[in-house]
Amino acid sequence: MTVDASWTGLRGEVLQTLMPSEAEERALGELRGRLEGELTRRLDEAGLRAVAEVHGSAARGTWIAGDRDIDLFIVLDGSYGRDVLPGVLDVVKAYVGEGWVEAYAEHPYIKAKVDGYDVDFVPCFRVDPGQGLTSATDRTPLHTAYVMENLEEGARDEVRLLKRFMKGVGVYGADLKVGGFSGYLCELLVIRFGSFEGVLGGAADWGHGAVFMLEGAPDIGALRKRFPEPLVVVDPVDAKRNVASAVSETSFWTFVAASRDFLRQPTIRFFYPPEVHVDAGGLLEMIGGRGSDLLFVVVDDDEVEVPDVLWGQLNRTERAVTGFLEKAGFDVFRSASWSDESTRHVLVIELASAVIPGVMGRRGPPVALAEDGVRFVNVHLEAEDTVSGPWIAGDHWWVAKRRAEPDARRLLAAMLEEGGLGVGVSKGLKEKMRHSGRVLLNEEVGGFLERGFEGFLAGFLRGRPVWIE
Ligand code: CTP
Ligand code: MG
Repeated sequence: MTVDASWTGLRGEVLQTLMPSEAEERALGELRGRLEGELTRRLDEAGLRAVAEVHGSAARGTWIAGDRDIDLFIVLDGSYGRDVLPGVLDVVKAYVGEGWVEAYAEHPYIKAKVDGYDVDFVPCFRVDPGQGLTSATDRTPLHTAYVMENLEEGARDEVRLLKRFMKGVGVYGADLKVGGFSGYLCELLVIRFGSFEGVLGGAADWGHGAVFMLEGAPDIGALRKRFPEPLVVVDPVDAKRNVASAVSETSFWTFVAASRDFLRQPTIRFFYPPEVHVDAGGLLEMIGGRGSDLLFVVVDDDEVEVPDVLWGQLNRTERAVTGFLEKAGFDVFRSASWSDESTRHVLVIELASAVIPGVMGRRGPPVALAEDGVRFVNVHLEAEDTVSGPWIAGDHWWVAKRRAEPDARRLLAAMLEEGGLGVGVSKGLKEKMRHSGRVLLNEEVGGFLERGFEGFLAGFLRGRPVWIE
């Protein structure tokens, strides 16, 4: 595969920003040793059969310079059940002292700041995934072992390049917010394709249902049937698991397109996209001059859930609201959710028009079907919202109906007031939306261009991948 010659220089430049200095490696190594030693001793003192081990990129040497995250696992003896977890978390809390936060998405864990690092204390069980897991995180120690054994020393920087590229184009992270590629998936892809350029070269040719297996020969047909996701990478430590299960259709194709464009013309934009210039006045002018309508649902929230729960709620609510508007006859062509993850969420919906005609034509059955025709005529003759008809045009019955609410903003506001009843708005957000939800149209959003939302909106209005100028 050939990459533009200018890439060689650029590659070195980008790598410079990603490789940790010796001092950083040393500091992390020291903290790692201390955390593992001290916490293991505390667990032992509490009578627990458990070992504290750092996993994730800090253990595999694939973290990006400057990242201050440590994934510290408390690996519990496999004979324990989940009922041991509260006691384990208590040991962690006592060890950390002040300032910890207990979080619970799929599994409970403790977040705390230690020496300037954000440390996640995650319990898991030492089990064989083939025999069944006790918690969702039990594979992690095996992942570390697999990567340490199969990722060559020099390939760690290839993982760093790949992670930075994926961050740049917006597909890094298996969380619900991004729906993209996890760190472990990046490591497996580099093991499979050998280098950063190798992964991109492979991805440039991917189609929906690309299947990879690092150990053994894949039965592609069977794997596709088993895993419906766009990308399938069988977990080498657990064949029942697709490591790429979080990768959404949009993230998958975004990565494919970015890979193709990058190989054709590599630029720094892919790794470090330029900030979209934001000026509130300019944004409002753009909104006013677009010719479409933008609806915003702003929700203030003083009891925000952990990110993975919150983004599940936001994604579900976004789908519910756009589906509701479409069903009511509005032409919704794009939507997105934003949140600062601590005080405010905003749903953005772009419509061809926020006000549509008050009357619509509806086609009935073919006249040839006598009984269907009679039923259609009777129903619409009696209905209050029939404006005219039913009439015959060509071979079909037709009727003109009045729309219940031709104004999207009013329709949405009424829906929120009822708490999104029957529309599919997330349970967790329903009450918050009823109490503090506001529906705004176009320039009315002017008072809310703050806390980072303005940058998000600028990107939304620009409306194209970051690497395309
Ligand atoms: N993990 C977890 N719960 C957390 C944090 C991490 O279960 N609260 C697990 C993940 O499932 C993964 C490992 O810890 O197996 C590392 O997660 P993460 O930090 O997301 O990925 P890294 O490989 O460390 O990549 P990065 O460089 O982005 O940190
Ligand atoms: Mg990590």
